[in-house]
Amino acid sequence: MNGPLQSGGAGPGTSGTGSNGRAPHANGVTLTAAMAAVHGAAHLLDYTRDPFLGFFSGRPTDELAPAGSLLDHPNVRRWFEMFEAGLAESLYTYQIPLSIASGPDSAALGEDLVMFSSYSYLGLIGHPRIATAVKEAVERYGTSTGGVRLLTGTLELHHELEHELAMFLGQEGAATFASGYDANIAAITSLFGPNDVALLDQYAHQSIHDGVRMAGCENRRFKHNDMEDLERRLRQATNRGAQRILIAVDSVFSMDGDQAPIADLIAMKNKYGAFLLVDEAHALGSVGQTGRGICEEQGIDPSDIDILTGSLSKGIPSSGGFVAGSRGLKIYIQHGSAPYMFSAAMTPANAAASLEALRIVQEEPQHMERLRRNTALLKDGLTELGFDTGASTTPVVPLILGDEFRAYRVAREMLERGIFVSAVVFPAVSPGQARLRLCATAAHEPEHFDRLFEALSECEAAMEVAAVR
Ligand SMILES: Cc1ncc(COP(=O)(O)O)c(C=O)c1O
Repeated sequence: MNGPLQSGGAGPGTSGTGSNGRAPHANGVTLTAAMAAVHGAAHLLDYTRDPFLGFFSGRPTDELAPAGSLLDHPNVRRWFEMFEAGLAESLYTYQIPLSIASGPDSAALGEDLVMFSSYSYLGLIGHPRIATAVKEAVERYGTSTGGVRLLTGTLELHHELEHELAMFLGQEGAATFASGYDANIAAITSLFGPNDVALLDQYAHQSIHDGVRMAGCENRRFKHNDMEDLERRLRQATNRGAQRILIAVDSVFSMDGDQAPIADLIAMKNKYGAFLLVDEAHALGSVGQTGRGICEEQGIDPSDIDILTGSLSKGIPSSGGFVAGSRGLKIYIQHGSAPYMFSAAMTPANAAASLEALRIVQEEPQHMERLRRNTALLKDGLTELGFDTGASTTPVVPLILGDEFRAYRVAREMLERGIFVSAVVFPAVSPGQARLRLCATAAHEPEHFDRLFEALSECEAAMEVAAVR
């Protein structure tokens, strides 16, 4: 391997550091000996070999998860055995500790990296207006709300954000949560129960599946985007006397970058008297002419969707989630859903970042324009290289590799060439469907794409990764 990131191969705290124990970094960031000690690695490639400070060195899974111990569990074994095999090949590319903001030009453990798996579709992380809004919010409100929303945790800022968000989405109301995961759990568990049936797209997000499990509904999956299969299951549920039926989908599927057929889903739910939940996590600030999401993208009246949920940690560069819909839905969710009643409110900093970002999306259309341009650049370049970009119609583009270790190896090879792309494996995708997930953002420059394509073509030759030729 002749990539730019050759590891010195020495132990922690030595490789790549100067006489003062610091490795200078092109972005002005240095890797201190202390950081190296914390990460157990002085160099990015050391990290891929031993990110756990020697925990797995020479110790088989049987020793680390002895029979009858807490860790004697099939899922623990699966991960530990994967580590055992993967670390021997320096294949650990998860949880890489970034030392600067997660933009296209990022850095980790003293190395520059070009980021191609970030969900920050609009490239707004680090936008000066957002930084200023956050500083002002922290000065005014401090760092925590000190409580749950229902009791002492509500700030004026939350009300402002929820108003802005509802207007932006074309909904009557929106309630915010500490995460998008919480939002799905809140919506589903507070409105559905054991006498109900949930019909979920097989690729719907884990938080939707978890919400249904927690609600105790009968849980059925329909084939991805397959309206015939959905209708068959709707008929079965109706015949079995389901009290209420929930249909739930992601509007943009995060692992394939394709879209749900919302008009067909609305027709289907109307025909069978069901309710529709649409998760906008990867659509907000990503699709639609002005970034308003799937309704704008597909020409849907937002009021035709019963429950709209989403995340504020992707196109909107904060952390949080929302449930949006009718005024009655908002009021009920703020009193009857557990994550609202039993989990701390979104922090002032996150609420301020979300609010300012929503304003920026509306006042600065150039970010959506750049995102569209860069999405086309990404897809055209991949197609020219002979890759199949699948059903993607959004900035998310999967490169399906099949075998998990194949995906890990390509991710590692890309890292060696200074490109950060995530390997996604089961359970995030079906077994045998491991992939690299690439995301275009508005912040990428043409040079970033050149570097990506060059690295991919080198890896492709080495790994025979092209899915279709
Ligand atoms: C479709 C979908 N829904 C919900 C979530 C959860 O959002 P959050 O990260 O804000 O918890 C994600 C996160 O990746 C997602 O992809």
